[in-house]
Order: sequence, then C-alpha cells, then structure tokens
Amino acid sequence: MRVAVIGAGVIGLSTAQSIYEQYHERASPLIIEVYADRFTPLTTSDGAAGFWQPYLYDKGNNQEMKWNKDTFDYLLSFLRSPDAIQMGIFLQSGYNLCTESAPEPSFKDIVLGFRQLTERELEMFPGYSHGWFNTALMVEGKTYLPWLMDWLIQRGVKFCHRKINSFQELADSGFQVIINCTGMRSGELQPDPQLQPGRGQIIKVDAPWLKHWILTHNFAKGTYNSPYIIPGSRLVTVGGIFQLGNWDEANNSIDHKKIWEEACQLEPSLNHARIVEDWTGLRPVRSSVRLERESIQSGPVTFEVIHNYGHGGYGLTIHRGCAQEAARLFGEILKLKQWEKKSHL
Ligand SMILES: Cc1cc2nc3c(=O)[nH]c(=O)nc-3n(C[C@H](O)[C@H](O)[C@H](O)COP(=O)(O)OP(=O)(O)OC[C@H]3O[C@@H](n4cnc5c(N)ncnc54)[C@H](O)[C@@H]3O)c2cc1C
Ligand SMILES: *[C@@H]1O[C@H](CO)[C@@H](O)[C@H](O)[C@H]1NC(C)=O
Ligand SMILES: *[C@@H]1O[C@H](CO)[C@@H](O)[C@H](O)[C@H]1NC(C)=O
Repeated sequence: MRVAVIGAGVIGLSTAQSIYEQYHERASPLIIEVYADRFTPLTTSDGAAGFWQPYLYDKGNNQEMKWNKDTFDYLLSFLRSPDAIQMGIFLQSGYNLCTESAPEPSFKDIVLGFRQLTERELEMFPGYSHGWFNTALMVEGKTYLPWLMDWLIQRGVKFCHRKINSFQELADSGFQVIINCTGMRSGELQPDPQLQPGRGQIIKVDAPWLKHWILTHNFAKGTYNSPYIIPGSRLVTVGGIFQLGNWDEANNSIDHKKIWEEACQLEPSLNHARIVEDWTGLRPVRSSVRLERESIQSGPVTFEVIHNYGHGGYGLTIHRGCAQEAARLFGEILKLKQWEKKSHL
C-alpha cells in the first residue's frame, strides 16, 4: 500500500503518524511519503503561538469538540514523560476576558481548574467585566513539528520537497491513497469556495516576566480580533488580528501599531519588552473542518483521497483528534482494498 500525504504542517505530520501507528503492522508493506513545498520552520503551524484553546463556543459541532478533547488528553498524557519538552508540550495558566457577560465556554470541562474570575482579578483588567481562569496546554509548532518529523523518519517515512500541482501526478506515480492536508494555500488542486484565509499577524517579544496568557474577547469585533498575550517557552506572542478574506502574507505596519498599542494597554509592562520579530500567517478558515473520504475516478484509475483541512485558528488544538479520525478513514479504504484483492482470486 502506497500513501502520499500532501502537507507537512501539524495536520499532515500528525496524520502520517496516526496512520503509521494504527496500520504499519496490518498493511505491510505500508509506504508513506510526505510531499510539501514548505517544511518546518516555515509552515503556518510553526508561526502559531501553539496555545491549546478552541473557539469559545462549539455552535453545536460536538464532533470537533470531541477532537479537541482527544487532543488535549493525548498531549496531557505526555506530561509525565521526559519527552514532553522535546515535543514542545507544557502546562500554562491564564485569563479569558470578556467585555460583556457571556456563557461559559464549551471547553470548560476539558481544561484544568476552570473557574469564574473574582472581583479582585477583574480589577486588574479595566474594561473587562467578565471572565474565567484555567490551566491549559501549550504545544509549540517550532518544537513539535521537528519532533514529529524525527519520529516519522525513524520509521522509514520519506519526505519530498515539492509543490504538487494535481492529484493526478501522485496517482500516476502509483499512490493508491492521497491525504490532503494542505492547509490554506491550495485552491489550485480543486477550489473550495468554503475555505477562506483568516489573516493573522503577531509580534514576538522578549518578556520573560510574563507567566500567564491573557486572551480578550470582544464579540462585536469577532474572534481573535482583540488583544491576546501568550507566553511561550522562550518568547511571548502578542496578537489580535483576524482578517477574513485577506491573502496578504506580508507584515503590515498599521496592524503592528494596532496590536502593540492594544496589548500595552492590556499589559503595561510590555512597554519594557524587547520586540524580536513580526510574523504573518493565514488561518485556514472554514465553517467546519473538512475530514472525509472521496473516490476520484480519472480515466481507467480510481484513487482515494482523504481530506483533512480547514482547521482555522485551532489547528494545534484539534490536530490529534483529526489525525486519528483520518487514520480510521484510511482503515476503511484498507479493508475495501483487501476485500477487492480477495474477491479477484
Ligand atoms: C497568527 C496565528 C496564530 C495562531 N495561533 C494558534 C494557536 O495558538 N493555537 C492553535 O491551535 N492554532 C493556532 N493557529 C492556527 C494554526 O496555525 C492552523 O490551524 C494550523 O497551522 C493549520 O495546520 P495545517 O497543517 O493545516 O497547515 P500548514 O501548517 O499551513 O501546513 C500546510 C502544508 O501544506 C503544504 N502545501 C500546501 N499546498 C501544497 C501543494 N500544492 N503542494 C505541496 N505542498 C503543499 C505546505 O507546504 C505546508 O507544508 C494560529 C494561526 C495564526 C495565523
Ligand atoms: C485539498 O485541500 C485544499 C485546501 O487546502 C482544497 O482547496 C482542495 O479542494 C482539496 N483538494 C481536493 C482534490 O479536494
Ligand atoms: C515579517 O517580519 C519579520 C521580521 O520581523 C521578517 O523576518 C519576515 O520575513 C517578515 N515577513 C514578510 C513576509 O516580509
């Protein structure tokens, strides 16, 4: 069985890992190759803060909330292992702040120690009347992606640095299954009008005294369009930009100014932080993640595609749950192929 994974962000790499884990014994030989035109540290998954938190409300999408929870529990299970640090996983606590009262978020029972903020805590954040405190996880792409790649290389998975222009070219080179984990920039393969960029820009600063994350929610401005501050293992990520439909991957000086002024108002000590760099990335925004199988007929050959893209501003938060589901879909294809082979004999 030959499988091609397109994409080497957190979604492509973790999907390759789940397929290997679940099937390398049952389908031998199982050949997995990963194709991508950007590898770590240059993917969107590397630039992201790596903070585990879904959007506040699941809007009835229980499926995605389950994948988020599976990911949290999976990552948490590594905290008792010394490898956690090589994976970029650690615990971190902080504040979600709202400008008006709001129902408790759907993830309240997934994170640790979720509670309402006290009056005294709220006094620290003028302009915010409501909020919650909890402990969550960090999974930093710049550490986790190299760890995933090493894990795969040790198990014989091959990597090809190449842009894929059509699914056909992979089918022609003998792959029976293609896994589509291309994130945002791949409308060329088969346009998906539901997929849109949610442009983000962040500033990385040196401010080692900041120990808690602070996310603000302003329902009039929309998700992640108001300031957030997320300390990482080395640098602090400062953000608050979410521009739907904007494809520009360049840093913008007006956005920089807005992020900085609003963040300094939220956390005045940032005025003394050293700015290290800016980064701009495109969140692959979709009404929900596309995670499904499709058989594509092309002339005499049929090949199977598994789609796993459209993880918006929560790709690291949901990745493992989606990878396990993609692997389950792969298992269905495997069963079908083994049955076809038998019935030919
Ligand atoms: C500013 C910002 C902050 C964020 N912070 C967080 C956070 O704290 N927590 C969180 O959970 N999420 C966060 N996100 C969201 C997260 O970054 C994304 O959801 C996630 O990175 C998507 O992963 P991916 O693997 O689908 O895409 P990517 O990481 O973009 O990977 C796509 C891969 O596909 C390859 N590819 C695409 N097209 C082709 C082609 N035609 N041929 C070959 N290769 C191709 C690329 O080269 C790349 O390897 C943030 C996003 C932004 C922009
Ligand atoms: C593969 O995923 C991209 C999004 O990353 C999407 O635009 C495209 O339609 C998908 N390809 C196919 C063949 O469906
Ligand atoms: C954004 O700014 C950083 C430095 O702060 C730079 O390294 C990066 O290349 C810039 N991005 C673009 C697309 O110009």
